Amino acid sequence: MPDAVSSPLTAESIAGASYIVAALMFILSLAGLSKHESARGGIIYGIAGMAMALAATIWLTIQGAWGSDQVQLGLVLLAVAMLVGGAIGLWRARVVKMTGIPELIALLHSFVGLAAVLVGWNGHLAAPELPADLAAIHHAEVFIGVFIGAVTFTGSIVAFLKLSARMKSAPLMLPGKNAINLGALAAFVALTIWYVNDSQVRLLVAVTLLALGLGWHLVASIGGGDMPVVVSMLNSYSGWAAAAAGFLLNNDLLIVTGALVGSSGAYLSYIMCKAMNRSFISVIAGGFGIAAPATGAAAEQGEHREISAQATAELLSNAASVVITPGYGMAVAQAQYPVAELAHQLRERGVDVRFGIHPVAGRLPGHMNVLLAEAKVPYDIVLEMDEINEDLAGTSVVLVIGANDTVNPSAAEDPSSPIAGMPVLRVWEAENVVVFKRSMAAGYAGVPNPLFFRDNSQMLFGDAKQRVEDILRALRS
Ligand code: TAP
Repeated sequence: MPDAVSSPLTAESIAGASYIVAALMFILSLAGLSKHESARGGIIYGIAGMAMALAATIWLTIQGAWGSDQVQLGLVLLAVAMLVGGAIGLWRARVVKMTGIPELIALLHSFVGLAAVLVGWNGHLAAPELPADLAAIHHAEVFIGVFIGAVTFTGSIVAFLKLSARMKSAPLMLPGKNAINLGALAAFVALTIWYVNDSQVRLLVAVTLLALGLGWHLVASIGGGDMPVVVSMLNSYSGWAAAAAGFLLNNDLLIVTGALVGSSGAYLSYIMCKAMNRSFISVIAGGFGIAAPATGAAAEQGEHREISAQATAELLSNAASVVITPGYGMAVAQAQYPVAELAHQLRERGVDVRFGIHPVAGRLPGHMNVLLAEAKVPYDIVLEMDEINEDLAGTSVVLVIGANDTVNPSAAEDPSSPIAGMPVLRVWEAENVVVFKRSMAAGYAGVPNPLFFRDNSQMLFGDAKQRVEDILRALRS
């Protein structure tokens, strides 16, 4: 082994340099992920940065422990943990369906939270001998790390249960829920001051239980419509939990990476709140100030009209312009390939075809863009909601393919609607609207949709993929 003291290239300096390069790669990765054209490059930067960070950390650990009796056991344990974790991760990533990605992400956030709790507890149990002022900082790091980690852990588990429909998505409305949250925060501050002065283990037990309960309650209090914001907010919390663990482990890269994840997740949540006209503070504070949605029966909305695939094909053949607004149902049906083929066929016939994408269509940010890119729909005809909304009034036909909440007029027109104020694609302003879905059921937010009963709307019932394929057959015949 090289002499770690006399050589200018010490293990620490090489690992430090690798950490800086890895941090830069993470920044490039985030920059790449902000646009779908550069997203693939962003992923590659992320993988390269993580590989470099892992290699440097393992090398640093081996160098530090070299010569000790336990280094071989440590290496074996490290290799086994990496092999088992890597194999499970690879298997899950290969079998997960696109529609299951948000809940998988929520579950992964819970692991980061749990890791931060364990690192914090280890920081308490194996506390180093420190002078009083440094010991106070160490105690604060332990306590705050355990708190953020435990909130992230249970909050992410609730998000996982809600997103995978194992728990009902309606918000839990305990009486005095805001007082419960504020009380828990006040108790955390008081316990932190106490622990910093007197690091008793029972205080750490108390804050762990308090934070586990708070994380559960915060996310359980949030309704299904706000879940996208919650997932990105938990992403942010998991970043701060990792940063807290970085302080305890004295690992600069973990601090930088945690801060990058924490701040980018918070900013993404803020953008999403703006897109859904939600108050950022109210969402992250567990639905603070949001009233419980009305649970009464949906008001009678009138009669809906049905259309066949054959008649839709005729409508499309005679249209000057068509806008396709996909939603979660397109992902469920895996209809993106026939939809891309339909757009292609219509464009060949001289019809102006474009796509209108709502920022929270589907179940994760960019869900529709990923599916359309997979089906090779040209980027220049895929427009964001703000870019297409003004043009919908002059559009001959809008095809709503498996979208519901994101095209619900009550968000724009009914102040008493639970989704009032959320910006939506104003598809009802087009000359004709064809809605592809299997039934008259409500969308993710559970809110009835008056679009289905408008005079210019017609329902094309059935699986979206099969119906689009029927239209393609009718166009060819
Ligand atoms: P949704 O409101 O979820 O509606 C999807 C519709 O697709 C349903 O009404 C369903 O009706 C239909 N559908 C399901 N399977 C289908 C199939 N095989 N063929 C045809 N139709 C099918 O969709 P959206 O407009 O995309 O809105 C997204 C919602 O999810 C929003 O409320 C949003 O806040 C929430 N959310 C978004 C995210 C992100 S980040 N995008 C994350 C979590 C939650 P039938 O059952 O009658 O077929």
